[in-house]
Amino acid sequence: MTLAPKNLQTIESHVLDLQRLHPSASGDFTSLLNDISFAAKVVSRDVTKAGLVEDILGSTGEQNIQGEVVQKLDNFANNVFLKCLGRRGQVCIMGSEEMEDPVFADTSQGTGKYIVVFDPLDGSSNIDANVSVGTIFGIWKRISKLAQINEDDLLQPGSELVASGYIIYGSSTMFVYTAGNGVHGFTLDPSIGEFLLSHENIMTPFGGKIYSVNEAYEPRWSPEVKEVVRQLKYGRDTKGTTRKDAPTEGAGMSSRYIGSLVADFHRNLLYGGVYLYPPTTEHPRGKLRLMCEAAPLAMIVENAGGYASDGTGSILDVVPDNLHMRVPLYIGSRGDVLWMEKMISESSSAL
Ligand code: AHG
Ligand code: MN
Ligand code: MN
Repeated sequence: MTLAPKNLQTIESHVLDLQRLHPSASGDFTSLLNDISFAAKVVSRDVTKAGLVEDILGSTGEQNIQGEVVQKLDNFANNVFLKCLGRRGQVCIMGSEEMEDPVFADTSQGTGKYIVVFDPLDGSSNIDANVSVGTIFGIWKRISKLAQINEDDLLQPGSELVASGYIIYGSSTMFVYTAGNGVHGFTLDPSIGEFLLSHENIMTPFGGKIYSVNEAYEPRWSPEVKEVVRQLKYGRDTKGTTRKDAPTEGAGMSSRYIGSLVADFHRNLLYGGVYLYPPTTEHPRGKLRLMCEAAPLAMIVENAGGYASDGTGSILDVVPDNLHMRVPLYIGSRGDVLWMEKMISESSSAL
């Protein structure tokens, strides 16, 4: 219980309330979330000023480990998160989309029990056009004993996440997180520099009205993915049979695609809908990254009553083989994602 009115609750007081339920908690998790929210405020400030400050827009001329163009703000956001996270020794490993190798903390300096993996700036190719971008993070707990940190600590599946979240730098800046106790959204009040609780216990509809996919890739999809998207769009198959077993049987959906995963995901979470990035001939294992994108958002969506699949089963059960592993992603309203998974797995096994 807190004495503060709901709309004056900060992330810190929200997490402290959670911590009180676990008397043995050391406060490390609370201070880690504070570090993340502080970094988010710094990035938010600079994203907002992007058009005003020299040397912040545009690309660096380099490519990251994924072979993608690195924007100056990608680098900037990455450095901010690296600097802010675990300043009090709570973190033993940090992994970032922008860095080939994880950073292992110096164990002589502390006992860091958390592993944090993040996408410092998601949707960064949109920055120059003033489109919403975001940050995604996942927090796991160290498995190994003190001073023996190794790859097993890093390469854990989404089912072992202790918390995850994202920040969306949009028309306002929002911080959305779950620690397994519901999904809660906070909006940055720039006048006091605090994230205040604005969306308590977000639940996503079981069936949605929106589908989000880059449809230009249709020629590069498998036949079963083509059929799934056809039925999302028309509500029926080529023979005119309605979309069976779907929550919105027979109804065609609306298409919305920003091309910023955080922004597409956030809208669908609130309104109901599905986001999909299926395998393509260019990305046969999918384009999105398991550890810094798919798994953290899967934890969020499941805590909001939704579901995330790789087309065969839950994203949360996929064990990473490396920090930058990619996966196909189908995520959003539970009924619609289960329907897509069934369609894809049944028709692939029939081939
Ligand atoms: P990032 O900017 O972190 O590299 O992520 C880009 C991702 C994601 O945000 C978005 O949904 C997707 O790439 C868009 O890809 P396409 O341009 O291929 O549709
Ligand atoms: Mn991304
Ligand atoms: Mn990114």
